[in-house]
Amino acid sequence: MPETQTVTTVTAFQAGAAIGPRLSPAGGVAITGIDLAQPLTLALREAILAAFREHHVLVFRDQDLSNDEQLAFTRQFGEIEEHVARHSAASRYGLVHMVTNVGDDGQPTTKLTQTGNYHWHTDKSYHAVPSLMTLLHAKELPPAGGDTQFANMAMAYEALPETTKRQIAGLRVVHSWAASRRRAGAPPPSEIEMRERPPVEHPLVRTHPDTGAKTLYIGNHASHIIGMPEDEGDALLTELLEHATQPQFIYTHHWQDGDLILWDNRCLLHRAMANYEMTTHRRVLHRTVVTGTVPF
Ligand code: SIN
Repeated sequence: MPETQTVTTVTAFQAGAAIGPRLSPAGGVAITGIDLAQPLTLALREAILAAFREHHVLVFRDQDLSNDEQLAFTRQFGEIEEHVARHSAASRYGLVHMVTNVGDDGQPTTKLTQTGNYHWHTDKSYHAVPSLMTLLHAKELPPAGGDTQFANMAMAYEALPETTKRQIAGLRVVHSWAASRRRAGAPPPSEIEMRERPPVEHPLVRTHPDTGAKTLYIGNHASHIIGMPEDEGDALLTELLEHATQPQFIYTHHWQDGDLILWDNRCLLHRAMANYEMTTHRRVLHRTVVTGTVPF
């Protein structure tokens, strides 16, 4: 069934919980009436995973999780990943990373837009085993804006002309932390970061391990296409990214106080939007990430 015709069929949510209609053709669904600080029953965990496979972005409203509670909720879906960046905001809470526009001096700033978060990416594609699921929990939000966008890579792949599908079948792409920093206009990574995170390669067309859908595995961490002259590969990656991030493939999340969202990195690109007064308002979210499997 095409993504746009998907209907919500989840019935196993606990009493008092409600799952809304799909938030956009590209994905997203809001779930209310669940306290994520409580351990999940087996049935509820299964219902959440079914909704995750169907809608790709789950929005849990009205949550207020401590770091420990967020970690405990995350652990119910797999192994938690460490963070790569060594700047202080990222390391403040260990496995719970702070995503923020607040600098080391405690002031909101535009300076931190120089990170990959503000460019289309899929988490940790510069790892041999990239992220499966990312969770972001709103702690402080600007009065307007500060949205997060998601682009559906299965829909984008499906919409490609058959000639392009044939052209890109079997191609492999190098992803690297260095490329990510370069594309984001950030200073190059340190030697330690480079040693810890050498470049890796992945298929350009990835198969979703749960649904079997073919997806474009691209974004800001993609460096170059193996066996293709650099400029030609770069042009193809740019063309695919432009195609894949057209409005019809995008869900834009407008944050509400208490939101905890989680998304599937295996079929989505995402980016933070600098669409708020970044030097005036604080935006603080807590992120945890579940490790995935080797893309094929
Ligand atoms: C991220 O890229 O993980 C963060 C996105 C955001 O800040 O909205």
